[in-house]
Amino acid sequence: MRVRILGTAAGGGVPQWNCACTGCATARRAGTHRTQDGVAVTGDGAAWYLINASPDLRTQLLSTGDLDPGPGRRDTPIRGVVLTTAELDHTTGLLGLREAGRLDLYATATVLAALPAIPILRRYTDLHLHQLTTGSPVTLDGGLTVRTLPVGVKVPRYADPRPDDAWVTALRISDGRTGRSFVYATCLPAWTDAFDAFIAGADTALLDGTFSTDDEPARAAGLTRTPREMGHLPIAAALPALRRHPGVRFLFGHLNNTNPYASAPAPVPVEVAHDGQELQL
Ligand code: MLT
Ligand code: MN
Ligand code: ZN
Repeated sequence: MRVRILGTAAGGGVPQWNCACTGCATARRAGTHRTQDGVAVTGDGAAWYLINASPDLRTQLLSTGDLDPGPGRRDTPIRGVVLTTAELDHTTGLLGLREAGRLDLYATATVLAALPAIPILRRYTDLHLHQLTTGSPVTLDGGLTVRTLPVGVKVPRYADPRPDDAWVTALRISDGRTGRSFVYATCLPAWTDAFDAFIAGADTALLDGTFSTDDEPARAAGLTRTPREMGHLPIAAALPALRRHPGVRFLFGHLNNTNPYASAPAPVPVEVAHDGQELQL
């Protein structure tokens, strides 16, 4: 399995267009830009799936040779999009895929019911929706299987609460031929026992790196809500749990512009992912 990290910033990106905070100013000066969170994954090198579709998707696709179209005029290696939230930073890129001849979209029933892009996309492309449900693995082209774990109930600001509240999920993508697995959990409000079991035995995991510490939003931006209240366990709070999984390579993505690791090196053992990085599993 190969994983191409397309973007590593939280909503707004780094730097954010209207932000002159220290982190954004540093990134602007140094040119250390990060586009918004998402990855592409393949089992066979031919069929690729996008995990999330950020507003930066077009730029991300154009800078990833593996995802170029061809040989036919409208052939594309992109077979579908798997969504882990309905948030705008993970879904507005869907509208940019409207030129597709066919679009397969995978998400929980909660996310599929809420997404404003779905009725719009139906007018442009042959849209196929696939429901992700806990305990029912979904098979993808190229020998991959996706398992889903609901991890959060944060409702996007534009949406209404729903009784089925699988708003935020973690994914475990496994390659049937090699037996290797990649866990994607860039929005993780808490490290629960269920998540601990979900990650056990995986090879690589991309975790929530939105905030470095509990006090970062208050210190850097004067915010009163804590990272956990915003649906993001800070990196420092996840570190003790990582020690229970010595066989897993952990990387952090979805960095907020207040996170000092967005522009400066993170201290060992924190490994921060970077845009364009390729992971071979
Ligand atoms: C989040 O990750 O918490 C959301 O994407 C926040 C947002 O961009 O509104
Ligand atoms: Mn986000
Ligand atoms: Zn900023």
